[in-house]
Amino acid sequence: MQQEVDLESYQPKVLEIVQAGAPVLCEVAAPVDRVLIRTDRIQHLIKDMQSTMYAAPGIGLAAPQVGVSLRIIVFYLPSARDASGIGVPLTVLINPEIDRIGDELAVDWEGCLSVAGKRGKVARHEMIRYRGFDETGNLVSRDAVGWHARLVQHECDHLDGVLYPALMKEEDELLDVEVWRALQEKQ
Ligand code: NI
Repeated sequence: MQQEVDLESYQPKVLEIVQAGAPVLCEVAAPVDRVLIRTDRIQHLIKDMQSTMYAAPGIGLAAPQVGVSLRIIVFYLPSARDASGIGVPLTVLINPEIDRIGDELAVDWEGCLSVAGKRGKVARHEMIRYRGFDETGNLVSRDAVGWHARLVQHECDHLDGVLYPALMKEEDELLDVEVWRALQEKQ
């Protein structure tokens, strides 16, 4: 017997977050066919990714981090981390694409739920324009600066098998989060 699709009653799961060293984090993830976005499989995956991100807690998560090699990311930016003070609401991007605008780079500390307990300095483009499908299959297109831009670049890197330590300069150390925190407090 065929079951009715009832997303409202779906209880999202908190999935295990895959750690650096796992092959799935090194793969180029596959695009999602737009006609499949509204299927149970993809809708449930998106809900599970969101609950996993919040439970971690984190502000961004890519599907490979839960062991699924598909081009899907979820993220939000708290207002306190947004240069505009507004923040970015919970966003789903499927098959995201990024255009980097200008040459300006910004260096800041990043962490990653798949590189647990570490922080490292990474240079990223300060301004980008990105687009992708949302969870309903509609096209989303936004300009982003600062942390918003950093976050989207970080999550999209996961879809190409790149973790942020690979982007760090040789002279910059990957710090334990406790060491990093002590350093921040001194400044
Ligand atoms: Ni990450």
